[in-house]
Amino acid sequence: MDHLPSSDALPGIRGLTSVSSKPLLTRDFDVHPTATYEGLRAAHGPVAPVDLLGVPCWLVLGYAEVLEVLRNDARVWSKRLADWRAYTQGTVPADWPPLPAFRAGGVAFTEGREHSELRAAWSAALRPFQDRSQDPARRLEAELRRHADELIALLGERGTTGRADLADEYARPLMLMAINRLAGFGEADEDVLLDIRRLLDGGPQAAEASGRLMDLCGRTCAARRSAPGEDFPSYLIAAWPDCTDEQAAAMTHLLGKLGDLTVTLVCATVVEVLSEEAAGALAGGMVRETVNRAAMVHPPYANLTFRFALADTVLGGTVIAAGDPVMLSVAAAHADPSFAGAHDPASVFSSRAHLAWGAGAHQCPGGALATTLATIAVERLQERMAWLEPALPPDRLPWRSSVFVRGLRSLPVRYGLREPSPAPPSRPSAEPSEVVEPASQGTLRRLVRVLRRTGR
Ligand code: HEM
Repeated sequence: MDHLPSSDALPGIRGLTSVSSKPLLTRDFDVHPTATYEGLRAAHGPVAPVDLLGVPCWLVLGYAEVLEVLRNDARVWSKRLADWRAYTQGTVPADWPPLPAFRAGGVAFTEGREHSELRAAWSAALRPFQDRSQDPARRLEAELRRHADELIALLGERGTTGRADLADEYARPLMLMAINRLAGFGEADEDVLLDIRRLLDGGPQAAEASGRLMDLCGRTCAARRSAPGEDFPSYLIAAWPDCTDEQAAAMTHLLGKLGDLTVTLVCATVVEVLSEEAAGALAGGMVRETVNRAAMVHPPYANLTFRFALADTVLGGTVIAAGDPVMLSVAAAHADPSFAGAHDPASVFSSRAHLAWGAGAHQCPGGALATTLATIAVERLQERMAWLEPALPPDRLPWRSSVFVRGLRSLPVRYGLREPSPAPPSRPSAEPSEVVEPASQGTLRRLVRVLRRTGR
């Protein structure tokens, strides 16, 4: 990266507001984001000015340029909101939709010492679940397998063959259970699970749901101080005893959002599994490799939250003024011919050089956990399904693009179960005819019903 003297010395640098830009989030983008990226790449090269919901920013499309900013070797990029010139000058609209997420702060929006401390706490709190040799990780994985089987058993109640939406009837409830477990919310309660979902949807009920969840996180964190459990808040407090209940709650709250990315990854992996290209990988039982490939082909975190230039700089031949925001597009970087062209699409061995988990100081610390969760979800399907096929052609699958995330709204499939689904395990009961299903199965049943009714 070339550094320039300050903009006082280079009056030619006028910042983004002087550059005309077109809205990024159009209907075309929603349907064919890759075509939008290619249009921008053809018109501007690896860095293009765009308008994001009324706010101008630079969209970084080139693989080399995205990696350069992520690595940040020259320390010219910051994720701190205070380094955004338009924000400090008060020209960002107060109701700009992504602003609350940026303002929430936390590990993803800090730099320097504050960032290192928060990140160390995250890593320590995730380790017992992420290190697969540890008991909490083993127990979490066993629970996830059980819930996966419970959800497949629910499908089996409709018959051994049928149609299902694997997003709302499998991936989403499964990951809601995983988040519930990680966050230490106790016995799964569908009201809480639905609040997590409302938060992730970002719709009109999101703010209220977020408030209720923050309260719950706060109460859970306060309780864990005196009685630690096997959950993220307990490990977080152990690693960082000085953190306030509010800080711990804010971090726990983020788990819900990250769960949405994992749902997206499960669905993307199933799409890969159903594609002929992945057949070789699956024949070899390489589901983990297919998860990695899905993350590359359909990166769930498609566009990353802003970084701000700390000094006037040149990126991919474009002059960027100090204080200007850049949005790194992982999806566009993966489609960059310099990356995509070097990769044989028929290969089942996907490149580990992909950027779906980011890179550098802010690289995802939960990538291994998300990969394990997605692998288990897909392995259970494989184990229990005699056959599985898409109910829609690939070009009609309902992808949804939000500002940052791209995932499937629903994943309609036809399936045949390998064997008649076992009845839910029963408990001995005074009434011989009465079958008592485990609490989680009842919660999942109600949850799936509500998710199917409300849809996306
Ligand atoms: C499929 C699922 C996931 C994907 C695709 C994903 C992707 C990413 C990416 C690309 C970043 C870097 C953002 C940036 O540089 O601006 C990131 C950051 C982060 N991820 Fe993930 N993530 C996933 C799941 C998770 C999970 C399950 C956790 C934890 C339980 C997690 C925790 C975090 C945290 C704390 C950060 C911020 C790190 C920092 O700023 O230092 N992620 N994630």
